[in-house]
Amino acid sequence: MLLVGGQGTRLRPLTVNTPKPMLPVAGVPFTVHQITRARDAGVTRIVLATSYRADVFHDFIGENDLGIEVVIATEESPLGTGGAIRYAADHLSTGVLAKLRSSPDDPVPVFNGDVLSGLDIAGLVARHQETDSDVTLYLTRVEDPRAYGLVPTDADGRVLEFREKPTTEAEIVTDQINAGCYVFRRSVIDSIPAGEKVSVERQTFPSLLASGAHVSAVVDEGYWLDLGTPLSFVQGSCDLVLGRAPSPAVPQTGESLVLGGARVADSAVLRSGTTVGRNAIVGVDVVVDGAVLFDGARIEAGARVTNSIVGEGAWIGEDVVLDGAVIGDNAVIGAGNGLLDGVRVWPGAQLAPGTVRFSSDQASS
Ligand code: GTP
Repeated sequence: MLLVGGQGTRLRPLTVNTPKPMLPVAGVPFTVHQITRARDAGVTRIVLATSYRADVFHDFIGENDLGIEVVIATEESPLGTGGAIRYAADHLSTGVLAKLRSSPDDPVPVFNGDVLSGLDIAGLVARHQETDSDVTLYLTRVEDPRAYGLVPTDADGRVLEFREKPTTEAEIVTDQINAGCYVFRRSVIDSIPAGEKVSVERQTFPSLLASGAHVSAVVDEGYWLDLGTPLSFVQGSCDLVLGRAPSPAVPQTGESLVLGGARVADSAVLRSGTTVGRNAIVGVDVVVDGAVLFDGARIEAGARVTNSIVGEGAWIGEDVVLDGAVIGDNAVIGAGNGLLDGVRVWPGAQLAPGTVRFSSDQASS
């Protein structure tokens, strides 16, 4: 099961028209990296739990064969992570072959739709079964756990507690955090109340622990990134292009990835895992250093684009400097602008030439 129904608010305005898992990362929608990794780990059928902009998933899955059966479940209104898992579970048993019907003890792997990782999926399922757990979580270690809920475990990998984000040093009892992939015993999913908004992280997991359920965890030391913010989105895309993050769906690894129909001037420099989308144009003396240019983007001569995302069909004028910026689809950035430090430009917005803007003065009109 793949949870892909969130609104992706942290990635606005890119997610206004396109749900986060369908944004292009290293040349394909992010969800394709996850689906093909699951496929290669032996998964034969995936239920996509959709809500926000479900139509975009329907269109894509209808037109593309990913070598795995993909079923789309769509909530009428968003049910949160736990409610979505409960709702999508009804679709686990509608396989065309009777042997696909799941029984109460079957393991059900569930993935958040925005996590890029090198997790050994089959290993997580095996661990879940060996330990006869009700739920098994995938955890990762982070250097600075202050922004995350913490998940301390005992020596046998049993989860002791789910802690909210720590606010003091004393509350940082571990560097282990929930990495956004779980294996559920099917009957545990069925015990989540149906048709209600439920958070799996804040409600289901703590109440399972409180009721004495066997909740295990596997701490994986490999690659992990949550692509929820603009900077991590760019980093994930670049890591895939550079071959640092594993995915069978990257068309080609290297210093940059230039997709079909794109035109890049000989004097332009593309580096640090940059992707140039289909039919995009990169002009003379442009430097693109660690960025994602969506399909049809156009970068005029002399521009510098660093750690930024340029939306579909956006136009970046001559000598513009983008650093840590997010440019919405079809926006027009007049020559000589400098957009720095988290500035976001709304789709279709037009900026007159020649101003330097920081994120404190959002360029959204
Ligand atoms: P932000 O709004 O930027 O926090 O992103 P998000 O909407 O993706 O939320 P979050 O990262 O908390 O969600 C974790 C995962 O659950 C993501 O893969 C979401 O797509 C998914 N998700 C969140 N809420 C829902 C929901 O109501 N229904 C479904 N089907 N999926 C959800």
